[in-house]
Amino acid sequence: MTPPILDPHSCELISLSPEQTRRVGMRLGALLQVGDVLALSGDLGAGKTTLMQGIASGWGSLDAVSSPTFVLVNVYRRVASGFIIWMPIASAARPKPWSWI
Ligand SMILES: Nc1ncnc2c1ncn2[C@@H]1O[C@H](COP(=O)(O)OP(=O)(O)OP(=O)(O)O)[C@@H](O)[C@H]1O
Ligand SMILES: [Mg+2]
Repeated sequence: MTPPILDPHSCELISLSPEQTRRVGMRLGALLQVGDVLALSGDLGAGKTTLMQGIASGWGSLDAVSSPTFVLVNVYRRVASGFIIWMPIASAARPKPWSWI
């Protein structure tokens, strides 16, 4: 596999703190266009929710972002207009019936 740094379609970022992860998410959220789809994948506690907090904030939402572990769909509204839908997808590789993005 090509190392991410040598692949023109990949970007590898190393975050040393939750705050750094939120800041990366804010940059990403600011780039989002209507209809964009993001897939967040990672083990429990990998930092998905932390990244999503930044994404929603950078996109313009004031809503609080929490892990969707016990929720089927989370919706984050933007003050101007529009919303982000965050929902879990199933993974057959997990021993439990759902894995959460
Ligand atoms: N570099 C980092 N980036 C993001 N979170 C970090 C980092 N270092 C430590 N943490 C901490 O890791 C914990 C787990 O993060 P988070 O809840 O975002 O993970 P998650 O992937 O959403 O977990 P889950 O699958 O249980 O929902 C948080 O308490 C967060 O503050
Ligand atoms: Mg989470």
